[in-house]
This record gives sequence, structure tokens and C-alpha cells, in this order.
Amino acid sequence: MTNTVTVDRYGVMGYPVSHSRSPVIHKLFALQTNQNMQYELLRVTPEKLEEAVRQFQRTGGKGLNITVPHKRSVCRLVDQLSERASTAGAVNTLAFQDGEIFGDNTDGIGLLRDLVVNLGANITDANILILGAGGATSGIVGPLLEMRPRSLCIANRTLKRAEDLAERFESLGKVSAYRFNVIPVTEPYHLIINATSAGLEGETPPYPEAAVSDKTYCYDLSYGLKPTPFSIWAREHGAAHSVMGWGMLVEQAAESFHIWRGVRPDTKPVLKQMTVNA
Ligand code: ATR
Repeated sequence: MTNTVTVDRYGVMGYPVSHSRSPVIHKLFALQTNQNMQYELLRVTPEKLEEAVRQFQRTGGKGLNITVPHKRSVCRLVDQLSERASTAGAVNTLAFQDGEIFGDNTDGIGLLRDLVVNLGANITDANILILGAGGATSGIVGPLLEMRPRSLCIANRTLKRAEDLAERFESLGKVSAYRFNVIPVTEPYHLIINATSAGLEGETPPYPEAAVSDKTYCYDLSYGLKPTPFSIWAREHGAAHSVMGWGMLVEQAAESFHIWRGVRPDTKPVLKQMTVNA
């Protein structure tokens, strides 16, 4: 008699995707919680996305993370969308169950857990400035507004995109939209989040210097082996804290892992390991 050992399959689909740390993080989670699973890097072009997702499902795959540039377009393949994914208009986690595809978005909760639980930042009553108005911003505005900040300002190079997001979220709280050069600064912001992809190109947009004080938490959704341009800028302008998005990366992964496996891993040692290796 032969015993077939089946391993539950997961992965991350993106294009490009080779830089993704998700396989390492999920392997560490699996080891820590004794889960029999594997997690693959899946390089999939936009034209091949639907075919690749359906094939992964057909061949018994259990779940996927979805990353750039597919987070929006994958929504149309989903049978059931969580409320937070629907509000964000983007999906980063798919779970395959009983022939159906469930889509969720763990980015916002990942950021909140890092800010509030790991870093002790106060969001309620804070003045928040988000730089950028792309996919990353649309994933975090809803969860941030649920924490009842005093104000939330979205600033972007292209004003129209910031205005569109502000309009989409205005029913959840006080949101305004500006170009970088006219960001209102009546008092320094408590929290500035960089959600532009400018740093990936090594660029520093005209970030608003007056918005930073020695009370400001600066958080870059990007992360890297070296400090990002925004995190350097924040330190140089006297921010109280300047943090890269490693914590959000690990926390959003933990939330996906919980959806798939029903087990919540301890993120602290994994975050430590990731940043020691960085
Ligand atoms: P993501 O999913 O990473 O958010 P995206 O949806 O393409 O990617 O959004 C990228 C964001 O970074 C946008 O806000 C973009 O500004 P525009 O809407 O004006 O394009 C911003 N961005 C990218 N490169 C930038 C640069 N060099 N200077 C300023 N903003 C930049």
C-alpha cells in the first residue's frame, strides 16, 4: 500500500515577483505553527492572470497572495469578496474552498497592527497625511478611517487620483485631497505615510517639509535592504520615528495565513528575522 503525502499548496502571484519575501515569511510561519504546506513564487503576466488562478484552483491549490500589478484586476475572478476588499477595491489574498474563490484584503489590517500593536502609534485623533493615491493607498484609507483620526489628507502628484479616493471614502470620515506643493500644514502631522512608488525609482518627490516635526511618526510602506529615500528624508527632517514597512509586510502575511490555516502565527520573531537578514 502506498501512502500519498499531500502538501497544501499556496503561493504569491505577481509581475515582477522575484523580489517577494512572502515565501520566506510563510515558510517561517509554517515551521512555527507546524503546518504542512508549501508556498511558491508565481510569475504571472496580466494577460495570463485568469488562466493561472483557475489552473492553481483546478490543481488543488488552497490559497494565493496577489501582488502588483494584479490586486485590482483579480477582483473580477472572485466569487465572494470580503467587505474590506470591496471597500479597498483590491484583493491581496485568495482562498479556494468548495469550488469557490474567496477574496480578501489584509494590507490595511497589516498596517494597523504594525502601527498600533507593534509600534504603539496613536491613530485615533491623529492628523494623518498619506503621500500617494494608487493601489497601496486605496487599501489603507478605509481601515485608518475606522480608527477615527482627526483628519486624513491624501496628497498626490496627480490631483485627480487623490480626489477620486477622497470622494470614494468620504462617507467613512474626514478626507481631503491635494497636490504635494499645496498640502495644508496648520500644525505638524502626527503620522505621515509614504504610499508612492517613487522610492522604487530612487526618486524623492517634493515631500512637504513643514508637515514633519519631532512629534511625527513617518512610515514608508516600501522597505528595503537599505533605508528608503522617504525614510532618509524623514530622519533628516527631524521626525520622531522613521520606519520602513517590514512590519506591515509580516502582519498582512500573518492575517492571510490565519485566513488559510485558522492559526495565528507569532509575528515578532519572524519580523526580527526578516529585518536582521535585511
Ligand atoms: P501602488 O499599487 O504601489 O500604489 P500605483 O497604483 O501605480 O502603485 O501608484 C503609485 C503611486 O506612486 C501613485 O500615487 C503615483 O503618483 P501618480 O498618481 O501621480 O502617478 C506615485 N508615484 C510614482 N512615482 C512617483 C514619483 N516619481 N513622484 C511622485 N509620485 C510618484
